[in-house]
Amino acid sequence: MSTHIGAKPGEIAERILLPGDPLRAKYIANTFLEGSVCYNEVRGMFGYTGRYKGVPVSVQGTGMGVPSISIYVHELLADYGVKTLIRVGTCGAIRPEVRVRDVILAMSASTTSAPNRLRFGHVQYAPTANFDLLRTAHEIAREKGTSIHVGSVMTTDLFYADGTADLERWAKFGMLAVEMESAELFTLAAQFGARALSILTVSDHVLTGEETSAEERERSFREMVEIALETAIR
Ligand code: HPA
Repeated sequence: MSTHIGAKPGEIAERILLPGDPLRAKYIANTFLEGSVCYNEVRGMFGYTGRYKGVPVSVQGTGMGVPSISIYVHELLADYGVKTLIRVGTCGAIRPEVRVRDVILAMSASTTSAPNRLRFGHVQYAPTANFDLLRTAHEIAREKGTSIHVGSVMTTDLFYADGTADLERWAKFGMLAVEMESAELFTLAAQFGARALSILTVSDHVLTGEETSAEERERSFREMVEIALETAIR
């Protein structure tokens, strides 16, 4: 096992979905994967491996925020040789054309978080999704008729922001939404020569206060997971 993941070598597939919530990892494994087996219960951060349409796929909870996802994704890349990583998460929209329930494919992720200052000093690194995964996910979403946006997001460390001035400035510069993990996922994938993408459903509109009902969240979550699984195996 690695420091925080209790799997033996070979128990985690090369293709992996990454929800923040470990109970969503369990739900995805039970609902979408055939023959899934739990490989991790350390800290309740569940991880499962099963098959989707015959192809081995894993799903691992990451927790919320950059430090948490950084630990899990680093170990998946360094200790288990994972190659294709797709975050399936939620985000808060900050632009008017993005509606609750829409799906966002994050092409790039700016961040307020510290790791890239530690890695690069004064240089401002641009965490970027893998183009092939992005293109494939876009094709699949269009085929399914999902309402989709492709663009940049902000990976923030503060869920409870003090006022909306920062959000409005980020929106002005084209960012579609705020979330809390993608910049670190993209950076680590680049470091280890792997492919990463973030697919996000819009759970709330930060500027208008609009929120999704539990039922609507469930439907857009299913759509997002189907897009992610099809992308992972294509
Ligand atoms: N901020 C940060 N992350 C989020 C939000 C938000 O408003 N909504 C869903 N994930």
